[in-house]
Amino acid sequence: MNDAIPRYKTDATENSNVGTIGDLATQANLVLVFRVTNGLDNGQAQTPPMGFLSWERFRCNVDCQRDPDNCISEKLYRSIADVMVSDGYSDLGYVYVNIDDCWSAKSRDQQGNLQPDPDRFPSGMLNLSTYMHSRGLKLGIYGDVGTKTCGGYPGSQNFLQQDAQTFAKWGIDLLKFDGCHSSRQNLAKYYPEMSRQLNFTGRSILYSCEWASYDILNTQRMYESNKKYCNTWRNFFDIQDSWRSVRDVIFYYGIDLGNFSGVAGPGGFNDPDQLIIGDFSLSYDQEKVQFGMWAMFAAPLYISADLRTMRPQAKAILQNKGVIAINQDPRGQQASFHTKIANIQVWTKPLSLPGSYAVAFFNPEFGGTPSLVTLTLSQIELTNQNGYNITDVFDDIQIGTYKLADKLSISANPEGIVLLKIVPL
Ligand code: GLA
Repeated sequence: MNDAIPRYKTDATENSNVGTIGDLATQANLVLVFRVTNGLDNGQAQTPPMGFLSWERFRCNVDCQRDPDNCISEKLYRSIADVMVSDGYSDLGYVYVNIDDCWSAKSRDQQGNLQPDPDRFPSGMLNLSTYMHSRGLKLGIYGDVGTKTCGGYPGSQNFLQQDAQTFAKWGIDLLKFDGCHSSRQNLAKYYPEMSRQLNFTGRSILYSCEWASYDILNTQRMYESNKKYCNTWRNFFDIQDSWRSVRDVIFYYGIDLGNFSGVAGPGGFNDPDQLIIGDFSLSYDQEKVQFGMWAMFAAPLYISADLRTMRPQAKAILQNKGVIAINQDPRGQQASFHTKIANIQVWTKPLSLPGSYAVAFFNPEFGGTPSLVTLTLSQIELTNQNGYNITDVFDDIQIGTYKLADKLSISANPEGIVLLKIVPL
């Protein structure tokens, strides 16, 4: 939207080249040596946060006269929260109900405090957080480090301490802090300052930044700063309801500019943006790809779809326990792009159980028949001489036990994924 500074103007991003991804596999593996373990020590995000975030699906719809059920209002967040509980999402870990932009009044009150739009949030934010907490859920809110939010609502620059105190007073559990209407220097100054101000409140608030997505120099140092001050950080374009958008994220994560995969871990995760599963554009296989790859990325799982009318097939994907367990694995390690076999991308994510991995086979090709690849486990650098037990995670099926030299055949649908869990015998 009205960004004061350009996003992602690095050549590598603009010309992201599918063909080069394989060359970077070695680099991706080396990153593990330099894993950064120190981060923001506020106890939050020991595993990637899960929940709902309204932006991609509900945007800045403030027209409650014409669209009372879908406008940004307490009614929307309460009704989504109710479904999160009644339809079993919260039991699986989806507990954050996150408000995005356009919730506030257009101006602060006379004391300079942020205030919710009185017509759309008549009961106030403390009342809303109390409601969420009574249902075993958490409430997230949105702010901006600059003078205005991306949607033109009041920003927090010059009000960091006051706004942190306000959020704490309202019982907020997560702050998504955007970076519109700021400058590079101010981002570097005020993102850390807000982190400190949140800590000073004494309330533990998960700090979800967009700092890395506004910084044009995607260096590992920049990511280390994000990890030091934030629990999660967006680092790519806003996701849209399209396959192209999902695929671009996956390729960007494969290129891994600035070695950001190596920075992720408990307490601090890269955020490739919301899940669009259950919206309007993805096929069944494409929805599985987004869920499987976001699990591999140890990404926050924020559903941005209308849970009240979710298609059963999409719901089954979002509630797949095996895939969620890969995402929530306590080791918190982000997958690296490993290699390409024919047209299939192979990604690996070490899991907490010693010697075990999640391995994704992603077929980015469009149309035609499924791609069949045959490989041995030593080809993906597995080394346990006794062999491995292999499970298909989406279908929860034991595929069998394999020695290092045994041939394993994988059939991946066009724009589809096969996700395996590989455990040493
Ligand atoms: C930016 C963010 C989005 C969303 C909008 C709201 O574009 O990246 O996720 O929060 O602002 O205006």
